[in-house]
Amino acid sequence: MSMAQTLRTNEGGSSGARSASGRMYNFSAGPGVLPEEVVRQAQEEIWDCRQSGIGILEHSHRAPTFDAILHEAVADCRAIGDIPSDYHVLFMTGGATSQNFLVPANLLGQEETADYITTGYWAERTFEHAQMFGKVREAWDGRPLAHRRVPEDAEISWSSSPVYVHMCSNNTIYGTQWRLADGSLRLPKIPPGSFLVCDMCSDIFSRPFDVRDFGVVYAGAQKNVGVAGVSLVLIRDDLLSRKPRELPLMLQYRVMARDESRHNTPPVFPIYMSGLVFKWILRQGGLGALHARNVAKAALIYDVLDSSTFYTGHAERASRSLMNVTFRTPSEKLDDLFVREAYDAGMDNLRGHRATGGMRASVYNAMPDEGCKALADFMREFERRHG
Ligand SMILES: Cc1ncc(COP(=O)(O)O)c(C=O)c1O
Repeated sequence: MSMAQTLRTNEGGSSGARSASGRMYNFSAGPGVLPEEVVRQAQEEIWDCRQSGIGILEHSHRAPTFDAILHEAVADCRAIGDIPSDYHVLFMTGGATSQNFLVPANLLGQEETADYITTGYWAERTFEHAQMFGKVREAWDGRPLAHRRVPEDAEISWSSSPVYVHMCSNNTIYGTQWRLADGSLRLPKIPPGSFLVCDMCSDIFSRPFDVRDFGVVYAGAQKNVGVAGVSLVLIRDDLLSRKPRELPLMLQYRVMARDESRHNTPPVFPIYMSGLVFKWILRQGGLGALHARNVAKAALIYDVLDSSTFYTGHAERASRSLMNVTFRTPSEKLDDLFVREAYDAGMDNLRGHRATGGMRASVYNAMPDEGCKALADFMREFERRHG
């Protein structure tokens, strides 16, 4: 029996059909699917990294091999995102969840105000964390709409002079995204003098964005930029001089910037994996090329929803996420059956988050076109049999 065939699903079903490489199509919301060539290279370099005779898991974080890996990762990240020299690229620990308190702790004075746009589960958590550091306000609250969409500008009520505005570009659980009709990034028009902070966990590097529109962008790596254990933080240099309070060194952006993300032993392997993913993104042709593919991939699934009276999507059309497609069948019983039968057909991790129920197909950069096609075909077939 091959290794792939011994895999077991979260559903506990039997092993089913497989992709061409013998693996399941993995629709997990995160940690999510990685490019297969990245996984293959990591397999080899766990044994011997860059012909050093030492595996990546065993290298010192100050050794020349890792020095080169870190510097290349930063340079490749800058190349992908066209990130100018007055922004720092940091690798930090504690997950995106830690950014929920690091942002206000580093950037917001106790008497200052920041506005939060609450567009989903994670944005709610972010707002909760910020409350202990300053006067934070919800400038828009998507809860009454069950987070089916993100707001129009006219619906947002700003404070008189917020230091920053926090937004979440893609709401992983509800499957909504800040987007224009062509899927490109739409930004709220924020009050003059404030800057944007963006949780880009689940759509970073899936489409072009201009980092100059933001003071801070952060993302846990485990969806589009590698594996769990590291978060990417892009921060404008002038913000590093803000010092609203004393903080332990490990919690200071300026210390992380000064020490090139190596104030202590950094997560060497996750940074290495991000470096491999960055090189993969460059080989794909960069963010424009990935965006075009992501639009086409998501359309395969949304087309099924739009031509069906059986499936209902959670997100309103204008806010539909290109990364996380959320939908349900007419009953919970059929949802359960869908998830089980999809598993038997080679597609895993399609169960929706407990907050939404139904199904969620996460189709990050590394999800192959064939995976989306397989899901769309399966959805049609399932509707034909059960609709
Ligand atoms: C949009 C968003 N923000 C924040 C988080 C939390 O990230 P972490 O688990 O790295 O703390 C997630 C996790 O899925 C997410 O999707």
